[in-house]
Amino acid sequence: MSQVANSVTMAQRLLADRLANARCAVDATVGNGKDALFLARNTPAATEIWAFDIQQAALDATAGLLAEHDLASRVRLVLDCHSHVARYVPGPIDIAMFNLGYLPGGSHAVTTVAATTVAAVGEVLRLMGADGLLTIVTYPGHAAGLIEDGAVREVLTALPQQSFAVGGWSLLNQRNQPPRLYIVEKVGCRT
Ligand SMILES: C[S@@+](CC[C@H](N)C(=O)[O-])C[C@H]1O[C@@H](n2cnc3c(N)ncnc32)[C@H](O)[C@@H]1O
Repeated sequence: MSQVANSVTMAQRLLADRLANARCAVDATVGNGKDALFLARNTPAATEIWAFDIQQAALDATAGLLAEHDLASRVRLVLDCHSHVARYVPGPIDIAMFNLGYLPGGSHAVTTVAATTVAAVGEVLRLMGADGLLTIVTYPGHAAGLIEDGAVREVLTALPQQSFAVGGWSLLNQRNQPPRLYIVEKVGCRT
């Protein structure tokens, strides 16, 4: 296995050793379900897993993938915008994943956009429990993705360092603006 991985793989690696103790995990952009499957496979049976998408096709694809692995009952699929996460998830959230952009194999016209992404990230951070972890993969290689990446970066850069540790990752020697990974950890919550 290569140690220098793309942003999507790196997000999963950075979360991996926290999954055993997670009580609540959110996949904010379920797409074809690969991250939801990752969460379902690697968390205890009692972990609540919530997965959001605005496209029924994404939820159907995810339900099919989870069923293939006998994990369909582990994930609560929600057909709604991730900015409404607080309507469904009481929290505290231990793990959250955003993989922005459009549904692979679907219409490129239906994509995440800066305003709702920023709202959703704000809600997830508000609901995040002590030591919670959030990963966000952005796609600055297309025009809307570049704007969205800038908006996400601005929000994360402004988070107070007493409460959040924020880092970033990307491959530096790839053509065409490769995906970028941001990771946020809620810190300073222990008494
Ligand atoms: C890159 S895909 C996610 C890939 C997925 N994590 C996987 O592992 O297959 C991005 C998804 O975000 C969804 N999406 C777009 N806007 C959204 C929104 N406002 N709320 C929730 N999901 C949204 C798209 O429909 C698309 O399926």
